[in-house]
Amino acid sequence: MSLRHQLEQAFVKHFAKTPELTVQAPGRVNLIGDHTDYNQGFVLPAAINFATYIAASKRNDNKVRVLAIDYGEQLAEFELNNIHFDPKRMWLNYVAGTVQALAKSYPNIQGADIAVTGTVPQGAGLSSSASFEIALIKAFAELNQLAIDGVQAALIGQQAENDFVGCNCGIMDQLISALGRENQAMLLDCRDLSVQYATLPQDMTLLIINSNVKRGLVDSEYNVRRAQCEQVARYFNQPSLRQVGLHMLKQAETELDPLLVRRARHVITENTRTEAALKALQQSDIKAMSYLMADSHRSLAEDFAVTTPEIDYLVELIAKTLGTQGGVRMTGGGFGGCVIALTPQAMVEAICQVIERNYQTHTGLKASIYLCQATNGAFRQNN
Ligand code: GLA
Repeated sequence: MSLRHQLEQAFVKHFAKTPELTVQAPGRVNLIGDHTDYNQGFVLPAAINFATYIAASKRNDNKVRVLAIDYGEQLAEFELNNIHFDPKRMWLNYVAGTVQALAKSYPNIQGADIAVTGTVPQGAGLSSSASFEIALIKAFAELNQLAIDGVQAALIGQQAENDFVGCNCGIMDQLISALGRENQAMLLDCRDLSVQYATLPQDMTLLIINSNVKRGLVDSEYNVRRAQCEQVARYFNQPSLRQVGLHMLKQAETELDPLLVRRARHVITENTRTEAALKALQQSDIKAMSYLMADSHRSLAEDFAVTTPEIDYLVELIAKTLGTQGGVRMTGGGFGGCVIALTPQAMVEAICQVIERNYQTHTGLKASIYLCQATNGAFRQNN
């Protein structure tokens, strides 16, 4: 039985009616451009074929009932005009936060019965929460016939994270979950939210390796990095690091704290690499992509300091086998999580073997490997 079908059955069992609709929104992997989104920079993610699925029906009152299949079929409910943070049920806060943010722009939305399940690995840095928010917005938009586009949906999802859940994230995860395209990567300019797409080479896969490193301090360290970047932008009297050039940073090197210089250098050089990566993909120049991804990883490890020894080891291990026939780097926020290897199909087997043979012996952890394709976002328009 398909997951969608199971979800619909669970909905019927708990709510004693068939759902009006079932929607889905994908998780994401970022090919290059990390810790640039909240600096108004460039990112180059792809939506992946892991998703959050929601079955839903509209209600005639303002009650929202939620059935969380993956949390032991827990059932919770709240009223649209009485939304509170629940420290005990984090999963529910995503619903409450998203609905609250949505209701700010669309105060007339009605209540709903919702069942949710998903395949995006949680806590792996593949944006299970953004995909949850985007799926919720999609469901409410369809139930209430709201004309929401992908950018609006992403902004509402981000607002839920920033204002309700308490995560100071950028816009990348929500926007790619909304506007991703099948077989394509998406360059997003986080300054004006414009997008460009590049087709991924047909014979290559998105091989994602989960280090299974327990991610601690993610939020606090993320916020520290963000504050450091903002401090440098302020020093230059600029709204963000996007307006700061490498030459400006070099000139100020003697005056700025060396740690801040490294943080800003990562962001500025990563923006250049990310734009170059779009061109490399458009020209199917895998060798160039390979170098760009390697430089990005180095910069995230040395200048931005968001990798762990296990992640660095995985990247080094895979790079040895991949050479310049593909690219490999950490992906997402860092401090554990996943590595992305843009891999020729013919080399997938060899890469998996090299990981199986070495990773656990070296780190004591077992990696999980996901073979992914780029898929459509939940708000993808047909054009
Ligand atoms: C997390 C955040 C994103 C982005 C990445 C790093 O995934 O949610 O907004 O900042 O980290 O690139």
